[in-house]
Amino acid sequence: MDCLIRPWEREDAADLAKALNNQNVQKNLRDGIPYPYTVDDAKEFIRAMLQTDPNQAFSFAIVAEGIVIGSIGAFRKENIHCRTAEIGYYIGEPFWGRGYGTSAVKQVCGRVFETTDIIRIFAEPFAHNAASCRILEKAGFVFEGLMRQNAIKNGIVTDMKLYALLKEDIR
Ligand SMILES: CC(C)(COP(=O)(O)OP(=O)(O)OC[C@H]1O[C@@H](n2cnc3c(N)ncnc32)[C@H](O)[C@@H]1OP(=O)(O)O)[C@@H](O)C(=O)NCCC(=O)NCCS
Repeated sequence: MDCLIRPWEREDAADLAKALNNQNVQKNLRDGIPYPYTVDDAKEFIRAMLQTDPNQAFSFAIVAEGIVIGSIGAFRKENIHCRTAEIGYYIGEPFWGRGYGTSAVKQVCGRVFETTDIIRIFAEPFAHNAASCRILEKAGFVFEGLMRQNAIKNGIVTDMKLYALLKEDIR
């Protein structure tokens, strides 16, 4: 099913906190996100996203079924990688498996390629994160390689997969 992506609004904090206050979501993300994740944490995140440079960060609320169900963002890299962006996303667990993640990734990539000079968007899911790898594949990303022992999450050394989508891939 399709979702809507739109800029963050301050009123989204309660829905955002509900989605992210979940270890099944957080265990697939990078460290540094508080747990429990409170409405105040969500307000701080939204405040930060609303202050980012609009040419560096492309951050959106994912809306479906009348509420904010998740978060997605593409973030421009620096230096020689300045025309590359890294994408990250999550969907609240009650809404998994309905196509929203795939829809959000496709929409954000389309929007970033249409409205910026970015030519490459990449993602680095944990190798065991089959759902994330699958949505990247469904959105047209190419698997570029296995990054062995690239992370330590919850005390376990973990491989990651590198996926990327080029602007020219979707012309
Ligand atoms: C990854 C995530 C965003 C996927 O969102 P979603 O809305 O459930 O994704 P979709 O419904 O669009 O697609 C999920 C696909 O993964 C597949 N899938 C789910 N679990 C799977 C598993 N354990 N093994 C194989 N495939 C799996 C589904 O079958 C579906 O593919 P299909 O359409 O071919 O059947 C969501 O699970 C999530 O937020 N997880 C926690 C945070 C996270 O992992 N973020 C990404 C970090 S890189």
